[in-house]
This record gives sequence, structure tokens and C-alpha cells, in this order.
Amino acid sequence: MVNTRAQPVARSRVAEPKFDEKELYELAEKFGTPYYLIDELTLRKKVSEIEHAFTEFRGAFRVAYSVKANFNPSVIKTFVSEGIMFDLTSPGELYFLLRCGGNPQNVMYTSITETTSEFETVIRGGVRHIVVASYNGLQNLIEAAGKTNTEVNVLIRVNPEVRVHAELRGSVRHGKFGLQFEGDEKDSAFAVLSKILSTPGLRFEGFHFHLGSQIEDPTCFAEAVEKLEVFILNTRKVLGDFSVNTIDIGGGMPVSYGKHVPSPSDFASMVVPHLNSLIESIGNRFTLIAESGRFLTAESTILVSRIVNTKRFGENKYVYIDAGYHLLIDSALLRHEYPVEVIPDRKSSEQKTVLVGRLCDPLDVFPTSSRSKLGGAEPGKLVVFRDVGAYSIVMNMPFHSTPRPCIIMRDALGNYVLVRRTQTIEELFSQEGGDLVGN
Ligand SMILES: Cc1ncc(COP(=O)(O)O)c(C=O)c1O
Repeated sequence: MVNTRAQPVARSRVAEPKFDEKELYELAEKFGTPYYLIDELTLRKKVSEIEHAFTEFRGAFRVAYSVKANFNPSVIKTFVSEGIMFDLTSPGELYFLLRCGGNPQNVMYTSITETTSEFETVIRGGVRHIVVASYNGLQNLIEAAGKTNTEVNVLIRVNPEVRVHAELRGSVRHGKFGLQFEGDEKDSAFAVLSKILSTPGLRFEGFHFHLGSQIEDPTCFAEAVEKLEVFILNTRKVLGDFSVNTIDIGGGMPVSYGKHVPSPSDFASMVVPHLNSLIESIGNRFTLIAESGRFLTAESTILVSRIVNTKRFGENKYVYIDAGYHLLIDSALLRHEYPVEVIPDRKSSEQKTVLVGRLCDPLDVFPTSSRSKLGGAEPGKLVVFRDVGAYSIVMNMPFHSTPRPCIIMRDALGNYVLVRRTQTIEELFSQEGGDLVGN
């Protein structure tokens, strides 16, 4: 194995995509606040940034969009038109993809629940690449493949149990996701592989791992590939030769959020030499898949809210906005800081500005730092949160009976297109069962 223990290269933050401040105010007048605004060209640019980064890989390379990050149909349709693959994890996501014109042959299906009925549904929907992560899951897949009389390509999700420096870790010792490399008991990569190889109707396709999200040090990918190599070579001695057609290295590519993080090229320069050397040592070329949800979507989107009130208390100036953590859940869950600015902003006053949301919950205080631009915060002005395209819209909650906000997309021609209407209060009442209960 080659040794490429490179340090992540610093990348400075540029506030992109750029939006015209006057237009943001006009959209606020037209559609109300808060609203999300997605930039289509940024979504497309992110695909090419990842593809470009992996050009040194010696086999075929595919990017897969992890739909869980943002299932808005405008986003899915944009990625469908880019011709990339999709990482799906529920029949609901498959429904969305098919309705958006996606091809189920381009799906990598990685389930957590792994039930027979779920597998049957996605196979009937045309999915042919399925990842299993437990022995029971494999049994269920065999049953579903039998019922549908379909040949399925199966990947094994392993947990390499490497140390991951990330906000959200998918690889932890004895963790929830994936099968263990060590041993040959039922729930091990060895036992599951052996069963796949001996089951008619299943085709062993390769391996999958997902180390985490917002991974700020890509060294763990190199370590995971090294462990995979040892596993493949050792297992071949016992089970005989099997070929590996696909290796899916999951997600985790980080987003700047105003700080320095490794770029896709930094990532690739760490992991690709190991993958190229794996091709040599196992003696077969494979297709490499890099899944991404966060990197592909986060930077494309801003959340625009309006300041509704201010208050002074001791040394603090409280700034109340009409958004809350119900629209940016990670600000409460992970104390995640999104780059935020008042527009137009002025030089910060001496007073400490505390940005708070509209929810009756002490957790609804947005983490801010010296990077935040909160000068000139007065009622009526807009506050823009950047990089909110991943794992926020999909987790919108109607806390305090607040309808889900609208989403606007700036398309490739620069037109502002409404892609999700603001939910009406009547719709919310009805979905809560308001029409079902007696008067
Ligand atoms: C299996 C799998 N692949 C890919 C991803 C996407 O990760 P990210 O959004 O960090 O790229 C996830 C996220 O949870 C995942 O569970």
C-alpha cells in the first residue's frame, strides 16, 4: 500500500452563490419570509467538482447523490439531468426519484431496516443494486428476489471501525451501521459474503462503507481501504476467487460553513492512490462510487428570514427573527453554526448581538461567532443563513403551528422559480387531522 498521510489543505471561504440584495427583498415581498432559495448552477458545479477531483482513479468513477440530504423534486431533477447515480434509503425516496424521471438502474439502495417488503417494493420499482448490512437483511433480500424472480446485484456494507474526525460518525467501534470485518459469525462480512456467493439469483457486486458526514480529515478513508484490502485477500484464500465490481466509499465530503475544510481534490488525493493500489493487489478493476448529500447540496441554498423584534438586556442585544431551529435543526441538535449575515449589514455595534428564533424554546438561539455579520440588525431587515441546502429542508417541523416555508430556485437562466409553495395553515390543520375530529 502507498503511504499518503497528507494533511487537509486549507480552503478559504468565499460567500457563494452570490444573490442580489435588492432581489432578496423583492422575493421576501412576493413570497413572504422565511423562504429558502436554491441556486441551480451551484448544484451542478458541485457535481463537476467531485467528478474532476477523482480523475486520477484508474477505473470508472460515479458520483451518487444521497437523496436524504434534500429530497425537493427540483433538486432531484437537477441531479437526474446531470446523469449521476442516486443513493437511496427508503421506498419513499425511490418514489420521488421515479416521479422526477430518474432511472432505477442508477440507484444504490442502502437500507437500515432491510425488510422483505421494502426490498420487494424497490426491486419491483426497478432497483438492481442493493446493499445489505446484516445476515437477516440478506435473508430478506433473498426472499424478495425469489418472490419477484429477479437477479439482484448485492453489495456488503462493512463497518471498518476506523477513527473518524467528523461531526457525525458512521464508523464507530461495534457500531449501528454495517457488518464487522473480523470473525465468521452470522453477522460478519465473511458469513454474508459466503452466503451471497452460494445463493443462485444473487450476484456479488462489491463493498460499501459510509464513515460519516462532514469528515474534516480524510485519512480515515485510506485506513478503511487498507482494511478492505486485507479482508478481500484473506477471504479469497478461504472462499476462492471472487471479483469485486464496485466499491462504494459512502459520503462525508465536508462543506466549508465559513471554516477551512479539505476540498474534494484534497479528499481524492488522499484516497485515490490507495484505491489504485487496491486495483493492483486484488487484480481487478472496479467502479468507484462516492456518495454525497451534504457537499452536493449545502452551499446551493440560503434561508432568508426577517428580523421581527429586538431587545436589550444587560450587555446583550437580542435579535428575534421569524425563523427558528425548526427550519435549521442542526443549529439546535449539533450547535452547528451556519454562516449568517444581516443584509445590508453595517459594522457591528459594541453590544453583543444574540440571534434568536421565534420558538418558545431556550434551545432556539442560533450559534454565532466573530464570522457572523450581524451589524445593523433592526426590525424589518433580512437575515440570511448560508449553506443550508443539506439536512435542513427535509427536517422542517411545523412547531408552533407554523406552516412549512416556500422554496424558490434560481434556475440556470437566472429566473426565480417557485418550487415549493408555502404550506397554508388550512393544509396544516387538515394534515393534523383537523377534518377528522368532531366539532
Ligand atoms: C449510506 C450513506 N451514504 C451517504 C450519506 C451522505 O453523507 P454526506 O451527506 O455527508 O455526504 C449518508 C448520510 O447519512 C449515508 O448514510
